Amino acid sequence: MHTYLVTGGAGFIGSNYIHYMFKKYGDDIRIINVDALTYAGNLENLKDVENRSNYKFVKADITDKEAIAAVFASEDIDRVVHFAAESHVDRSIRNPEVFVQTNVLGTAVMLNCAKAAWELPDGTFKADHKFLHVSTDEVYGSLPDDDSAFFYETTPYAPHSPYSASKASSDMLVKAYMDTYKFPANITNCSNNYGPYQFPEKLIPLIINNALSGKKLPVYGDGLNVRDWLYVEDHAKAIDMVQEKGRLFETYNIGGHNEKRNIEIVNIIIETLREELSDDDPRKALVTKDLITYVEDRKGHDRRYAIAPDKIKKEIGWEPETMFKDGIKLTIKWFFEHEDWMKNVTSGDYQKYYADMYKA
Ligand code: NAD
Ligand code: DAU
Repeated sequence: MHTYLVTGGAGFIGSNYIHYMFKKYGDDIRIINVDALTYAGNLENLKDVENRSNYKFVKADITDKEAIAAVFASEDIDRVVHFAAESHVDRSIRNPEVFVQTNVLGTAVMLNCAKAAWELPDGTFKADHKFLHVSTDEVYGSLPDDDSAFFYETTPYAPHSPYSASKASSDMLVKAYMDTYKFPANITNCSNNYGPYQFPEKLIPLIINNALSGKKLPVYGDGLNVRDWLYVEDHAKAIDMVQEKGRLFETYNIGGHNEKRNIEIVNIIIETLREELSDDDPRKALVTKDLITYVEDRKGHDRRYAIAPDKIKKEIGWEPETMFKDGIKLTIKWFFEHEDWMKNVTSGDYQKYYADMYKA
């Protein structure tokens, strides 16, 4: 039986991954979720697994060496899936330091503690022990605004935002551990995720939440930037497949083959909300395209991201399964059914963040 140390499991992708893993493996795995519960971490995301005997939550910061070493000392961890990070580009532009702290230093601590726990006296590592570092396509920088190029695993790194620079640095640390110590790891670089439990600072949940309350829908710049959207459960499945079937020391790109301009996303959300809301629901009248408001562009805004997921398909057999038209419906339905979740995460600090961020 594998024992997973999942970092950042109370966040968006981490909590979806934990749900996916219990759905797939049931009682045949153990999961230890280590999360500092920043503004982005929410134990409500894990309510339906919290009483399982094969699940444990540990509140700890990944930059805290003693706390992380203690988890390795007390649990027989043979799988690490490292999600914990500061993840929002706009916050990184306003406050880069915490991104370096968590994403770079935190990854160094995770690598060092795993190495210390798994290394044998001869410098090799315990058999079948693996570390998966979850990263982003943003490390590759920005593509031209046409279909002429894609991100491959061989694309040179060219991060632009403090967020992507910190993720690129953390990837480099993982590569350094693999090259120097033959530390058993993989890196995955994924495109934009969407789905249940996503914090409404990110485009899709922000637009859904604002539209339902008749608030302006802020579109940065000309709205023509392109992102490659992947349903979060497909990402969770890819991570598991890479860890179990991937070649050690390799990087795998994960993407949705689903490039869309931001304004298209906003229009699709408005149309889908109008289809899904019943005629007697008072919110239906609020949801109109008149809410779309072009606002000042993000500084250094990358124009286009697009992953070529050829390697993961060829070597591992993973492909995106959820069509965007289905995934966005599932997401919108989930938000309809979890109004309290949205109320809870948007109370308190979120109000201040939103007022500051969108004051213009
Ligand atoms: P998120 O912001 O929703 O969640 C991050 C989680 O990490 C939260 O639970 C938070 O409490 C925890 N955390 C933050 N700092 C911590 C610390 N110092 N110690 C312990 N826990 C800490 O992020 P997400 O969108 O779920 O992204 C997860 C990972 O996937 C990140 O590494 C991100 O770079 C990567 N990624 C995200 C996307 C995306 O579209 N969201 C795409 C590709 C890759
Ligand atoms: O590509 C993977 C990355 O995707 C992940 O590594 C990041 O953790 C994740 O946050 C995401 O980054 P983006 O910056 O692409 O996502 P975000 O949802 O913040 O923005 C998506 C696009 O929408 C981007 O071009 C900026 C634009 N946008 C965003 C917001 C929040 C707007 O036009 N208006 C908004 O209010």
